[in-house]
Amino acid sequence: MPQENASSSSTGLSAQAASARRPLRIALFGFGTVGSSVARILVESKAEDVELTHIFNRNVARKRVDWTPPNVVWSEDADAVLASDVDVIVELAGGLDPAGGWVRRALEAGKSVVTANKKLIAYHGVELERLAAAKGGHLKYGAAVAGGIPVIPGIEQGLAGDRIERMEGILNGTCNFILSKMEAGAEYATVLATAQAKGYAEADPTEDVGGFDARAKLAILMRLALRVVVDPEEIVPQPITAVTAVDFSYARDLGCTIRQVARAEESGGSVAATVGPMLVDKKSPMAWSRGTENMVILTGHYGGDVVFSGHGAGGHPTAVAVVSDLLALAHGSRRVAVPSAPARIGAEFEVPHYIRFLVDDRPGIVAEITGALARERINIRAIVQKPGYPAHALPFVVTVEPCKSSALKRALASISKMDCLLEEPLDLQMLE
Ligand SMILES: NC(=O)c1ccc[n+]([C@@H]2O[C@H](COP(=O)([O-])OP(=O)(O)OC[C@H]3O[C@@H](n4cnc5c(N)ncnc54)[C@H](OP(=O)(O)O)[C@@H]3O)[C@@H](O)[C@H]2O)c1
Repeated sequence: MPQENASSSSTGLSAQAASARRPLRIALFGFGTVGSSVARILVESKAEDVELTHIFNRNVARKRVDWTPPNVVWSEDADAVLASDVDVIVELAGGLDPAGGWVRRALEAGKSVVTANKKLIAYHGVELERLAAAKGGHLKYGAAVAGGIPVIPGIEQGLAGDRIERMEGILNGTCNFILSKMEAGAEYATVLATAQAKGYAEADPTEDVGGFDARAKLAILMRLALRVVVDPEEIVPQPITAVTAVDFSYARDLGCTIRQVARAEESGGSVAATVGPMLVDKKSPMAWSRGTENMVILTGHYGGDVVFSGHGAGGHPTAVAVVSDLLALAHGSRRVAVPSAPARIGAEFEVPHYIRFLVDDRPGIVAEITGALARERINIRAIVQKPGYPAHALPFVVTVEPCKSSALKRALASISKMDCLLEEPLDLQMLE
């Protein structure tokens, strides 16, 4: 293994890029799925502007491969790599700790950082960007949302001239894989097991199916596109786990399918944001995305809708976004720094809802439900009951005209007291 280069000289990126005397020296922190793909692309592309010099990982011996250049330093000593003369730390270990500490120390030293770490950026992005600016380095995270789809550079560069008012996105490939397979007839448990076997879902899938991963990504996009800094914890996600085959069947009858959607809008200073399974029209682009694909639709005040779609995860697609960030740094390309301001999520979407009930049938159920909705001034759009289900476990659906979630929640709280209900009603927003 080559010796550590423990030189403490750390030239700032600006000086480096300006002088352009040597390629940017790159240290990878984390040689897993994405890290190894980044190394592979850097090696195969023979890019002249960037040079992979260090690879850091715990127990690094088991990570070593024979296709990296012989002068690459393989290390399990983060301190030594941070103290070396690398220009850019590429953080691909994930999580808040210790990754956040490495990123801070690199920025403190005037180095630049490229990361795919959505959690770190969602919770600490503002502070880290300030640190980077203060110390003369740069922080880039184009891979942190939607993997290989250039949504972040698209917002920062291509759409900086617009005022984005609304966004909707399929931001979690695992949920999209599960829901698009369920749309084709698979059961949740079976398709989750398949996703785990294929490496799309973690052993504990809560981050994905619970909506926590998507809300971190939504918070990042809200800062860049809507220019509001929100605490991700304020976005209350709805898990996809309550969606069943019955819901896909009813959704189909309504001309829809179901996808996990993250959406946010800003209007007159008030901000609404939500993540959860939603009914999407079969004709909408959202319904086209299948498997692990991601999609983001941004609505600009001047430019109208812009749709991004493609592979939102996977080693190679995500690595493309990381390498693109590295090349942008090497070429001195700066992001358009738009001002963003702290905001609370205080507004609600006023949208139609799909509510699925599962009841032990008896006379008067529909009258009680419609009464509770009427008391909250919620108009019913349709009541749908498919034949073929037993009366003792009867699913049926009520769709309602656009209403505030809080009003519907009050109505459902009152409906939930009905003795005939076999489970909590499933309330899904309908995306129109
Ligand atoms: N995979 C994707 O499709 C994807 C898409 C978008 C964004 N991302 C983001 O990209 C980052 C990397 O994801 P990944 O899928 O490549 O993860 P991964 O396969 O688990 O790779 C992480 C690597 O970092 C190493 N590592 C983790 N903690 C470490 C520590 N404390 N000290 C030293 N080494 C450590 C791991 O070593 P061990 O082998 O010892 O665990 C592993 O080699 C994450 O932030 C993730 O959210 C991933």
